[in-house]
Amino acid sequence: MITFVHFEVKTENYQDMNILDGRTLAVDIRRELAEAVVEIKENGGKIPHLAAVLVGEDPASQVYVRNKVRSCEKIGFKSTLIRKTADVTEDQLMAIVAELNEDDDIDGFIVQLPLPDHIDEKRVTLAIRPEKDVDGFHPVNFGRMAQGLPAYIPATPNGILEMIKRYHIDTAGKEVVVVGRSNIVGMPMGILLAQKAYPGNATVTICHSRTADLSEHTRRADIIVAAIGRPEFITADMVKEGVVVIDVGINRVDDPSAERGYRLVGDVDYNDVAAKASWITPVPGGVGQLTVVSLLMNTLKASRKEIYS
Ligand code: GUN
Repeated sequence: MITFVHFEVKTENYQDMNILDGRTLAVDIRRELAEAVVEIKENGGKIPHLAAVLVGEDPASQVYVRNKVRSCEKIGFKSTLIRKTADVTEDQLMAIVAELNEDDDIDGFIVQLPLPDHIDEKRVTLAIRPEKDVDGFHPVNFGRMAQGLPAYIPATPNGILEMIKRYHIDTAGKEVVVVGRSNIVGMPMGILLAQKAYPGNATVTICHSRTADLSEHTRRADIIVAAIGRPEFITADMVKEGVVVIDVGINRVDDPSAERGYRLVGDVDYNDVAAKASWITPVPGGVGQLTVVSLLMNTLKASRKEIYS
């Protein structure tokens, strides 16, 4: 059994700043993963192998998948990219999933979403064997996660947990307010932080678009996880002094002064909120940096059969 050594973030390096630095963490974790691959090779073990299925020409999906494949290559994982045109039928895609499920060389795989409208994403997601579902999207993984059993956790919550651990952010007994209730961010984040574990043991409130008075909740929060998808939605008047802010949002806003004509902002009004926060994730450079490494961490777990033995 190879142990996965965690390099601790040296908090003193960041003492002057209250930034939860996703970029540095991602570099550290990639290095650890690359070292794990070297060790696997030295011991004659099987190299972790991730496959990705990309359907159609969606520009954002192409970038994401390219990133995932390149990241595998950089750390020494094997990767396989299966590309299909947007006119692939649901049955053809199901056949690809079935093949990947059966392929013993492939430890884990993902089907990049969104899929074209004529394909039922739920059916495809359900067809992926939970043992290979390194995205953590299958309800079996969600259910196992919710019961505190070993499970693949989706990339964003997984990255946030890693960030909380490596910065030694205290969560026990804290008031956590998660804004957003999606199946892959808000809901799992809320469940995980309420669990009897570290990170966890928090008192969690999940807020959403129908919450009556959002500020009333966010102003109480010791920790806010903002996963709303609305630019700079959480403003300084909505948070208390000393709050820890984890901003999951990545939104494009028009900016004629920027080279591309837009800039990226989070769900949090960064400058004003940062002035009150004890810790805050920047956008870009925060949580978003950890999503691909989370997938790679899950792939390593899959190859070691850590979740399903
Ligand atoms: N589309 C956007 N993010 C993701 C992701 O993390 N996994 C998959 N499969 N599709 C996505």
